[in-house]
Amino acid sequence: MQDFFEFRLTPRVLYKVGLACDMNTEVAALGGTKAFIVTDVGVLKSGLVDRIRDALQETIEVVGVYSDVPPNSSVRVVEAAAAQAREVGTDILVAIGGGSPLDTAKGMRILLTEGGRLLDYEGVNVLTRPLMPMIAIPTTAGTGSEVTTFAVIKDDENHVKLSFTSPYLAPELAVLDPEMTATLPAHLAAATGMDALTHAIEAYVSTEQEPMSDALALGAIEMISNHLRDACLPGAQNEFARGQMLIASCMAGIAFTNAYVGAVHALAHATGGHYPVHHGLANSIFLPHVIHFNSEDEVTLERYTRIGRAFGINTGGRSREEVVADLIAAIQQLAADCGLPIRLRDTDVPEDGLELLAEQAFTDGALFHNPRLAEPEDLLQILRAAW
Ligand SMILES: [Fe+2]
Repeated sequence: MQDFFEFRLTPRVLYKVGLACDMNTEVAALGGTKAFIVTDVGVLKSGLVDRIRDALQETIEVVGVYSDVPPNSSVRVVEAAAAQAREVGTDILVAIGGGSPLDTAKGMRILLTEGGRLLDYEGVNVLTRPLMPMIAIPTTAGTGSEVTTFAVIKDDENHVKLSFTSPYLAPELAVLDPEMTATLPAHLAAATGMDALTHAIEAYVSTEQEPMSDALALGAIEMISNHLRDACLPGAQNEFARGQMLIASCMAGIAFTNAYVGAVHALAHATGGHYPVHHGLANSIFLPHVIHFNSEDEVTLERYTRIGRAFGINTGGRSREEVVADLIAAIQQLAADCGLPIRLRDTDVPEDGLELLAEQAFTDGALFHNPRLAEPEDLLQILRAAW
Protein backbone atom coordinates (compact mmCIF):
# COMPACT_ATOMS: atom_id res chain seq x y z
CA MET A 1 0.00 0.00 0.00
CA GLN A 2 1.05 3.62 -0.57
CA ASP A 3 2.40 5.72 2.33
CA PHE A 4 0.16 8.48 1.04
CA PHE A 5 -3.06 8.30 -0.92
CA GLU A 6 -5.89 10.54 -2.01
CA PHE A 7 -9.43 9.20 -2.25
CA ARG A 8 -11.88 11.49 -3.94
CA LEU A 9 -15.68 11.39 -3.66
CA THR A 10 -17.24 13.84 -6.09
CA PRO A 11 -20.56 13.08 -7.77
CA ARG A 12 -23.76 12.54 -5.87
CA VAL A 13 -24.96 9.05 -6.76
CA LEU A 14 -28.70 8.33 -6.70
CA TYR A 15 -30.28 4.92 -7.33
CA LYS A 16 -33.96 4.10 -7.92
CA VAL A 17 -36.06 2.23 -10.47
CA GLY A 18 -37.68 4.97 -12.58
CA LEU A 19 -35.41 7.72 -11.22
CA ALA A 20 -34.34 9.11 -14.62
CA CYS A 21 -37.90 10.35 -15.21
CA ASP A 22 -38.36 11.51 -11.62
CA MET A 23 -35.35 13.69 -10.80
CA ASN A 24 -36.66 17.22 -11.33
CA THR A 25 -35.88 18.35 -7.77
CA GLU A 26 -32.29 17.21 -8.22
CA VAL A 27 -32.01 18.90 -11.61
CA ALA A 28 -33.44 22.18 -10.29
CA ALA A 29 -30.91 22.12 -7.44
CA LEU A 30 -28.06 22.25 -9.98
CA GLY A 31 -29.24 25.68 -11.14
CA GLY A 32 -29.43 25.22 -14.93
CA THR A 33 -32.44 26.37 -16.97
CA LYS A 34 -31.50 25.30 -20.51
CA ALA A 35 -30.65 21.61 -20.74
CA PHE A 36 -28.93 19.98 -23.71
CA ILE A 37 -29.15 16.19 -24.06
CA VAL A 38 -26.18 14.19 -25.41
CA THR A 39 -26.87 10.62 -26.48
CA ASP A 40 -26.47 8.09 -29.30
CA VAL A 41 -28.84 6.85 -31.94
CA GLY A 42 -29.46 3.48 -30.25
CA VAL A 43 -30.59 5.14 -27.01
CA LEU A 44 -32.67 7.65 -28.99
CA LYS A 45 -34.47 4.83 -30.85
CA SER A 46 -35.18 2.99 -27.59
CA GLY A 47 -37.51 5.86 -26.57
CA LEU A 48 -35.57 6.60 -23.36
CA VAL A 49 -34.55 10.08 -24.51
CA ASP A 50 -38.16 11.13 -25.23
CA ARG A 51 -39.27 9.93 -21.80
CA ILE A 52 -36.51 11.80 -20.00
CA ARG A 53 -36.97 14.94 -22.10
CA ASP A 54 -40.72 15.03 -21.35
CA ALA A 55 -40.04 14.63 -17.64
CA LEU A 56 -37.32 17.32 -17.63
CA GLN A 57 -39.58 19.80 -19.47
CA GLU A 58 -41.77 19.99 -16.36
CA THR A 59 -38.95 21.86 -14.60
CA ILE A 60 -36.51 23.24 -17.18
CA GLU A 61 -36.33 23.88 -20.88
CA VAL A 62 -34.68 21.22 -23.06
CA VAL A 63 -33.04 23.31 -25.78
CA GLY A 64 -31.49 20.55 -27.88
CA VAL A 65 -30.56 16.91 -28.38
CA TYR A 66 -27.34 15.66 -30.01
CA SER A 67 -27.71 11.98 -30.88
CA ASP A 68 -24.91 11.43 -33.41
CA VAL A 69 -22.31 10.19 -30.91
CA PRO A 70 -20.54 7.11 -32.42
CA PRO A 71 -19.35 4.12 -30.32
CA ASN A 72 -15.82 5.59 -29.96
CA SER A 73 -16.41 9.32 -29.75
CA SER A 74 -13.94 11.68 -31.40
CA VAL A 75 -12.61 15.21 -31.19
CA ARG A 76 -14.65 16.12 -34.27
CA VAL A 77 -17.89 14.89 -32.66
CA VAL A 78 -17.23 16.70 -29.36
CA GLU A 79 -16.50 19.98 -31.15
CA ALA A 80 -19.56 19.69 -33.40
CA ALA A 81 -21.88 18.87 -30.48
CA ALA A 82 -20.42 21.69 -28.35
CA ALA A 83 -20.98 24.18 -31.19
CA GLN A 84 -24.66 23.14 -31.40
CA ALA A 85 -25.10 23.38 -27.64
CA ARG A 86 -23.46 26.80 -27.50
CA GLU A 87 -25.72 28.15 -30.24
CA VAL A 88 -28.88 27.36 -28.25
CA GLY A 89 -27.62 28.86 -24.98
CA THR A 90 -27.13 25.60 -23.04
CA ASP A 91 -26.29 25.93 -19.35
CA ILE A 92 -26.60 22.30 -18.19
CA LEU A 93 -25.71 19.02 -19.96
CA VAL A 94 -27.64 15.77 -19.58
CA ALA A 95 -25.72 12.78 -20.94
CA ILE A 96 -27.73 9.60 -21.54
CA GLY A 97 -25.88 6.52 -22.77
CA GLY A 98 -22.77 4.40 -22.41
CA GLY A 99 -19.23 5.67 -22.05
CA SER A 100 -19.12 7.36 -25.42
CA PRO A 101 -22.02 9.85 -24.92
CA LEU A 102 -20.93 10.45 -21.31
CA ASP A 103 -17.32 11.16 -22.31
CA THR A 104 -18.55 13.32 -25.20
CA ALA A 105 -20.54 15.46 -22.74
CA LYS A 106 -17.43 15.74 -20.53
CA GLY A 107 -15.47 17.04 -23.52
CA MET A 108 -18.31 19.42 -24.40
CA ARG A 109 -18.45 20.92 -20.91
CA ILE A 110 -14.76 21.79 -21.26
CA LEU A 111 -15.39 23.65 -24.51
CA LEU A 112 -18.64 25.26 -23.34
CA THR A 113 -16.88 26.62 -20.24
CA GLU A 114 -13.37 27.36 -21.46
CA GLY A 115 -13.68 27.73 -25.26
CA GLY A 116 -10.81 26.88 -27.63
CA ARG A 117 -10.02 23.48 -29.15
CA LEU A 118 -10.40 20.20 -27.27
CA LEU A 119 -6.75 19.24 -27.84
CA ASP A 120 -5.70 22.26 -25.74
CA TYR A 121 -7.00 20.46 -22.64
CA GLU A 122 -5.56 16.97 -23.14
CA GLY A 123 -3.62 15.52 -20.23
CA VAL A 124 -3.76 15.55 -16.45
CA ASN A 125 -5.05 18.46 -14.36
CA VAL A 126 -5.00 21.02 -17.15
CA LEU A 127 -8.41 22.36 -16.07
CA THR A 128 -8.41 24.93 -13.28
CA ARG A 129 -12.05 25.62 -12.36
CA PRO A 130 -15.54 24.03 -12.23
CA LEU A 131 -17.23 23.37 -15.58
CA MET A 132 -20.81 23.67 -16.83
CA PRO A 133 -22.95 21.31 -14.68
CA MET A 134 -23.53 17.80 -16.01
CA ILE A 135 -25.92 14.98 -15.15
CA ALA A 136 -24.90 11.46 -16.20
CA ILE A 137 -27.51 8.77 -16.80
CA PRO A 138 -25.75 5.52 -17.75
CA THR A 139 -27.62 3.13 -20.06
CA THR A 140 -24.87 0.51 -19.75
CA ALA A 141 -23.24 -1.06 -16.70
CA GLY A 142 -20.62 -0.12 -17.67
CA THR A 143 -17.89 2.27 -18.04
CA GLY A 144 -18.28 3.98 -14.68
CA SER A 145 -17.95 7.25 -16.58
CA GLU A 146 -20.83 8.66 -14.49
CA VAL A 147 -18.44 8.91 -11.54
CA THR A 148 -14.96 9.13 -13.05
CA THR A 149 -12.68 12.11 -13.51
CA PHE A 150 -11.60 10.86 -16.95
CA ALA A 151 -12.74 11.23 -20.53
CA VAL A 152 -11.29 9.19 -23.41
CA ILE A 153 -11.79 10.71 -26.85
CA LYS A 154 -10.43 9.45 -30.17
CA ASP A 155 -8.19 11.65 -32.28
CA ASP A 156 -9.46 10.78 -35.79
CA GLU A 157 -6.33 11.95 -37.59
CA ASN A 158 -3.74 10.04 -35.55
CA HIS A 159 -5.83 6.95 -34.62
CA VAL A 160 -5.03 7.35 -30.94
CA LYS A 161 -7.25 7.73 -27.91
CA LEU A 162 -6.67 10.95 -26.01
CA SER A 163 -7.07 11.05 -22.23
CA PHE A 164 -8.44 13.95 -20.27
CA THR A 165 -8.10 13.75 -16.49
CA SER A 166 -9.34 16.32 -13.99
CA PRO A 167 -11.51 16.30 -10.85
CA TYR A 168 -13.64 18.92 -12.65
CA LEU A 169 -14.67 16.31 -15.25
CA ALA A 170 -16.67 14.21 -12.77
CA PRO A 171 -20.39 14.87 -13.32
CA GLU A 172 -22.31 16.64 -10.55
CA LEU A 173 -24.99 13.95 -10.47
CA ALA A 174 -24.95 10.25 -11.39
CA VAL A 175 -28.43 8.75 -11.89
CA LEU A 176 -28.57 4.96 -11.61
CA ASP A 177 -31.90 3.67 -12.89
CA PRO A 178 -32.28 -0.02 -13.91
CA GLU A 179 -35.04 1.00 -16.36
CA MET A 180 -32.28 2.65 -18.42
CA THR A 181 -30.57 -0.68 -19.18
CA ALA A 182 -33.76 -2.68 -19.95
CA THR A 183 -33.41 -2.34 -23.74
CA LEU A 184 -29.62 -2.82 -23.90
CA PRO A 185 -28.74 -5.58 -26.40
CA ALA A 186 -27.26 -8.67 -24.71
CA HIS A 187 -23.84 -8.39 -26.39
CA LEU A 188 -23.46 -4.81 -25.10
CA ALA A 189 -24.64 -5.76 -21.60
CA ALA A 190 -21.95 -8.45 -21.68
CA ALA A 191 -19.11 -6.33 -23.07
CA THR A 192 -19.79 -3.35 -20.79
CA GLY A 193 -20.15 -5.67 -17.79
CA MET A 194 -16.73 -7.14 -18.54
CA ASP A 195 -15.37 -3.58 -18.78
CA ALA A 196 -16.69 -2.93 -15.25
CA LEU A 197 -15.10 -6.19 -14.05
CA THR A 198 -11.78 -5.11 -15.59
CA HIS A 199 -11.98 -1.71 -13.85
CA ALA A 200 -12.44 -3.41 -10.48
CA ILE A 201 -9.69 -6.02 -11.01
CA GLU A 202 -7.14 -3.56 -12.42
CA ALA A 203 -7.85 -1.02 -9.63
CA TYR A 204 -7.39 -3.77 -7.00
CA VAL A 205 -3.92 -4.76 -8.24
CA SER A 206 -2.83 -1.26 -9.33
CA THR A 207 0.33 0.44 -8.06
CA GLU A 208 -2.10 3.06 -6.63
CA GLN A 209 -4.18 0.52 -4.67
CA GLU A 210 -5.46 1.74 -1.28
CA PRO A 211 -7.97 0.31 1.21
CA MET A 212 -10.98 2.42 0.19
CA SER A 213 -10.77 1.58 -3.49
CA ASP A 214 -9.97 -2.03 -2.54
CA ALA A 215 -13.27 -2.37 -0.68
CA LEU A 216 -15.28 -0.98 -3.59
CA ALA A 217 -13.37 -3.09 -6.12
CA LEU A 218 -13.84 -6.39 -4.23
CA GLY A 219 -17.53 -5.59 -3.66
CA ALA A 220 -17.98 -4.87 -7.37
CA ILE A 221 -16.16 -8.08 -8.40
CA GLU A 222 -18.44 -10.20 -6.20
CA MET A 223 -21.59 -8.51 -7.53
CA ILE A 224 -20.49 -8.82 -11.16
CA SER A 225 -19.60 -12.50 -10.80
CA ASN A 226 -23.05 -13.10 -9.27
CA HIS A 227 -25.23 -10.99 -11.57
CA LEU A 228 -23.65 -10.39 -15.00
CA ARG A 229 -25.07 -13.58 -16.53
CA ASP A 230 -28.64 -12.73 -15.49
CA ALA A 231 -28.22 -9.08 -16.54
CA CYS A 232 -27.42 -10.30 -20.08
CA LEU A 233 -30.64 -12.30 -20.42
CA PRO A 234 -33.40 -10.52 -22.32
CA GLY A 235 -36.53 -9.30 -20.60
CA ALA A 236 -37.76 -7.17 -17.75
CA GLN A 237 -37.57 -10.03 -15.24
CA ASN A 238 -33.86 -9.28 -14.85
CA GLU A 239 -34.36 -5.85 -13.34
CA PHE A 240 -32.74 -6.87 -10.05
CA ALA A 241 -29.61 -8.19 -11.82
CA ARG A 242 -29.45 -5.08 -14.00
CA GLY A 243 -29.72 -2.88 -10.91
CA GLN A 244 -26.93 -4.82 -9.20
CA MET A 245 -24.75 -4.40 -12.31
CA LEU A 246 -25.39 -0.62 -12.42
CA ILE A 247 -24.35 -0.32 -8.78
CA ALA A 248 -21.32 -2.61 -9.24
CA SER A 249 -20.20 -0.71 -12.33
CA CYS A 250 -20.48 2.58 -10.41
CA MET A 251 -18.49 1.10 -7.48
CA ALA A 252 -15.81 -0.11 -9.89
CA GLY A 253 -15.81 3.39 -11.43
CA ILE A 254 -15.13 5.01 -8.05
CA ALA A 255 -12.40 2.42 -7.40
CA PHE A 256 -10.56 3.04 -10.67
CA THR A 257 -10.98 6.80 -10.79
CA ASN A 258 -8.94 6.73 -7.57
CA ALA A 259 -6.61 3.75 -8.11
CA TYR A 260 -6.46 3.73 -11.95
CA VAL A 261 -6.32 0.82 -14.39
CA GLY A 262 -3.39 -1.09 -15.96
CA ALA A 263 -2.10 -3.13 -18.87
CA VAL A 264 -5.51 -4.51 -19.91
CA HIS A 265 -6.73 -0.99 -20.59
CA ALA A 266 -3.46 0.01 -22.29
CA LEU A 267 -3.99 -2.88 -24.74
CA ALA A 268 -7.72 -2.12 -25.16
CA HIS A 269 -7.06 1.56 -25.85
CA ALA A 270 -4.51 0.66 -28.56
CA THR A 271 -6.90 -1.91 -30.06
CA GLY A 272 -9.88 0.47 -30.07
CA GLY A 273 -7.75 3.19 -31.67
CA HIS A 274 -7.00 1.00 -34.72
CA TYR A 275 -9.86 -1.48 -35.10
CA PRO A 276 -13.63 -1.41 -34.54
CA VAL A 277 -13.47 -3.59 -31.41
CA HIS A 278 -15.72 -2.64 -28.48
CA HIS A 279 -13.72 -1.39 -25.50
CA GLY A 280 -15.36 -3.86 -23.12
CA LEU A 281 -14.85 -6.79 -25.48
CA ALA A 282 -11.15 -5.92 -25.88
CA ASN A 283 -10.78 -5.77 -22.09
CA SER A 284 -12.62 -9.06 -21.70
CA ILE A 285 -10.23 -10.78 -24.12
CA PHE A 286 -7.02 -9.31 -22.64
CA LEU A 287 -7.91 -9.57 -18.93
CA PRO A 288 -7.11 -13.31 -18.42
CA HIS A 289 -3.76 -12.97 -20.25
CA VAL A 290 -2.70 -9.91 -18.27
CA ILE A 291 -3.61 -11.69 -15.01
CA HIS A 292 -1.35 -14.54 -16.12
CA PHE A 293 1.48 -12.07 -16.89
CA ASN A 294 1.08 -10.04 -13.67
CA SER A 295 0.92 -13.21 -11.52
CA GLU A 296 4.70 -13.54 -11.85
CA ASP A 297 4.80 -10.79 -9.25
CA GLU A 298 4.38 -12.42 -5.79
CA VAL A 299 2.44 -9.58 -4.16
CA THR A 300 0.08 -9.35 -7.12
CA LEU A 301 -0.40 -13.14 -7.13
CA GLU A 302 -1.65 -12.83 -3.55
CA ARG A 303 -3.99 -9.98 -4.55
CA TYR A 304 -5.43 -12.14 -7.36
CA THR A 305 -6.18 -14.95 -4.89
CA ARG A 306 -8.32 -12.49 -2.90
CA ILE A 307 -10.07 -11.55 -6.13
CA GLY A 308 -10.58 -15.29 -6.69
CA ARG A 309 -12.34 -15.54 -3.32
CA ALA A 310 -14.62 -12.59 -4.24
CA PHE A 311 -15.30 -14.44 -7.51
CA GLY A 312 -16.54 -17.43 -5.53
CA ILE A 313 -13.52 -19.68 -6.13
CA ASN A 314 -12.69 -22.24 -3.46
CA THR A 315 -9.36 -21.20 -1.90
CA GLY A 316 -9.20 -23.70 1.02
CA GLY A 317 -5.96 -25.75 1.13
CA ARG A 318 -4.98 -24.77 -2.40
CA SER A 319 -1.90 -22.97 -3.72
CA ARG A 320 -2.18 -19.38 -4.90
CA GLU A 321 -1.22 -20.53 -8.42
CA GLU A 322 -4.13 -22.99 -8.49
CA VAL A 323 -6.60 -20.35 -7.32
CA VAL A 324 -5.41 -17.83 -9.92
CA ALA A 325 -5.56 -20.48 -12.68
CA ASP A 326 -9.20 -21.08 -11.65
CA LEU A 327 -9.85 -17.33 -11.63
CA ILE A 328 -8.56 -17.03 -15.20
CA ALA A 329 -10.75 -19.95 -16.30
CA ALA A 330 -13.77 -18.51 -14.46
CA ILE A 331 -13.39 -15.10 -16.14
CA GLN A 332 -13.21 -16.73 -19.58
CA GLN A 333 -16.21 -18.91 -18.74
CA LEU A 334 -18.19 -15.83 -17.62
CA ALA A 335 -17.40 -14.05 -20.90
CA ALA A 336 -18.31 -17.15 -22.94
CA ASP A 337 -21.56 -17.69 -20.98
CA CYS A 338 -22.48 -14.08 -21.83
CA GLY A 339 -21.90 -14.79 -25.53
CA LEU A 340 -18.58 -12.96 -25.99
CA PRO A 341 -15.69 -14.29 -28.08
CA ILE A 342 -12.66 -15.05 -25.92
CA ARG A 343 -10.00 -14.91 -28.66
CA LEU A 344 -8.74 -11.80 -30.44
CA ARG A 345 -8.78 -13.64 -33.81
CA ASP A 346 -12.58 -13.72 -33.58
CA THR A 347 -12.68 -9.89 -33.72
CA ASP A 348 -11.56 -7.50 -36.47
CA VAL A 349 -7.89 -7.55 -35.38
CA PRO A 350 -5.59 -9.27 -37.95
CA GLU A 351 -2.55 -11.23 -36.74
CA ASP A 352 -0.16 -8.92 -38.60
CA GLY A 353 -1.55 -5.94 -36.67
CA LEU A 354 -0.29 -7.14 -33.28
CA GLU A 355 3.19 -5.53 -33.37
CA LEU A 356 1.77 -2.07 -33.97
CA LEU A 357 -0.72 -2.58 -31.10
CA ALA A 358 2.11 -3.61 -28.74
CA GLU A 359 4.07 -0.45 -29.63
CA GLN A 360 0.98 1.72 -29.20
CA ALA A 361 -0.03 0.11 -25.88
CA PHE A 362 3.50 0.72 -24.55
CA THR A 363 2.92 4.48 -24.84
CA ASP A 364 -0.46 4.38 -23.04
CA GLY A 365 -0.63 6.09 -19.64
CA ALA A 366 -2.63 3.21 -18.10
CA LEU A 367 0.49 1.02 -18.26
CA PHE A 368 2.13 3.26 -15.68
CA HIS A 369 -0.11 1.82 -12.94
CA ASN A 370 0.23 -1.84 -13.92
CA PRO A 371 1.75 -3.82 -11.02
CA ARG A 372 4.39 -5.51 -13.18
CA LEU A 373 6.63 -3.65 -15.61
CA ALA A 374 5.59 -4.55 -19.16
CA GLU A 375 8.05 -3.99 -22.02
CA PRO A 376 6.87 -3.87 -25.66
CA GLU A 377 7.99 -7.54 -26.07
CA ASP A 378 5.85 -8.53 -23.06
CA LEU A 379 2.84 -6.75 -24.54
CA LEU A 380 3.40 -8.47 -27.87
CA GLN A 381 3.52 -11.83 -26.09
CA ILE A 382 0.22 -11.05 -24.32
CA LEU A 383 -1.33 -10.00 -27.64
CA ARG A 384 -0.12 -13.21 -29.35
CA ALA A 385 -1.47 -15.32 -26.51
CA ALA A 386 -4.82 -13.51 -26.72
CA TRP A 387 -4.98 -13.84 -30.52
FE1 LIG B 1 -12.75 0.64 -19.32
